[in-house]
Amino acid sequence: MSAKKRILTGDRPTGKLHLGHYVGSVANRVRLQDQYECFFIVADLHTLTTKPEKEHITALHQNIHDLVLDNLSAGIDPEKSVIFLQSGVSETYELNLIFEMLTTVNRLERVPSLKDMAAAAQMGEVMPFGLLGYPVLQAADILLPRAHLVPVGKDNESHIEVTREIARRFNYLYGEVFPIPEALIGDVPSLIGVDGQAKMSKSLNNAIFLSDDEETVNQKVRGMFTDPNRIRADIPGRVEGNPVFIYHDAFNPNVEEVNDLKERYLVGKVGDVEVKRKLAKALNDFLTPFRERRAYYESKPGLVEEVLVTGTERMRAEAAETMGQVREAMGLYRLPVRVGQS
Ligand code: TRP
Repeated sequence: MSAKKRILTGDRPTGKLHLGHYVGSVANRVRLQDQYECFFIVADLHTLTTKPEKEHITALHQNIHDLVLDNLSAGIDPEKSVIFLQSGVSETYELNLIFEMLTTVNRLERVPSLKDMAAAAQMGEVMPFGLLGYPVLQAADILLPRAHLVPVGKDNESHIEVTREIARRFNYLYGEVFPIPEALIGDVPSLIGVDGQAKMSKSLNNAIFLSDDEETVNQKVRGMFTDPNRIRADIPGRVEGNPVFIYHDAFNPNVEEVNDLKERYLVGKVGDVEVKRKLAKALNDFLTPFRERRAYYESKPGLVEEVLVTGTERMRAEAAETMGQVREAMGLYRLPVRVGQS
């Protein structure tokens, strides 16, 4: 038994991971793999909160594969860390029900992201029971492996707050079973998209994906929004809040080069073309090892699925242990074992 603390985090399989996911959460996942025992969830059940129709469920199959591959390509090592499928762990549903008793409708109505999700799914004022319960299900995910730390983007911070309250409430009513987990927000809590208008997001068409090839990255960077007032290279420009420099800061390890570009940009001594060419180069250098790992995993048919099956089995064992502690702590009636059976 290892004495390491635990991490649980993950994503809904709604599409490919992009640079925003990387700086928000994935970088921390990769960085903390040795220090923590890590569980990475493919949260397919959470997608049912806004899209319960069967055609949406079957459309997840490819996304599930892609999400596992994205995590592996980013450097999650399946020998060290567990990657698992939420719907494959039935204790998730069990713990979710128990946690539903430990918060209130009022409390959940104050979670800001839920209304946004309902709006994004074009549901208007309609709030499904399950969507209101989104943070409760997330609490079940996090507390099933009794995790201490949850690396997430800023948008998930309010959900982790609900998890902490539920964990405290459980421990207060029944005894100490759960740690009170903490959110760990990434270096760039919310990365702007290439359009410079909104947070990077697949649905807004302003994302650079971890799986983009070199030419795609070059093209996206060439089209990036910069300082709109700077119509010529000899006009002094704004560095602060400028997406190309936000990306340089986040992904270009050559600090000297970045500082030089910034200084010249501020006084109108460098063109957008050079700033972007150097950014595209930095991003492609950053993504090269991702591409190599992706090619490796893609070259071995069945390997991605194998990782997910093995991880889900590991998580199930952990979940069974936790549910045993939960039932015991709560004092739920234990059905007697029939005589003659073990
Ligand atoms: N809510 C996360 C998202 O925005 C996905 C998720 C589900 C999650 N369960 C989790 C994140 C547990 C961290 C921990 O997609």
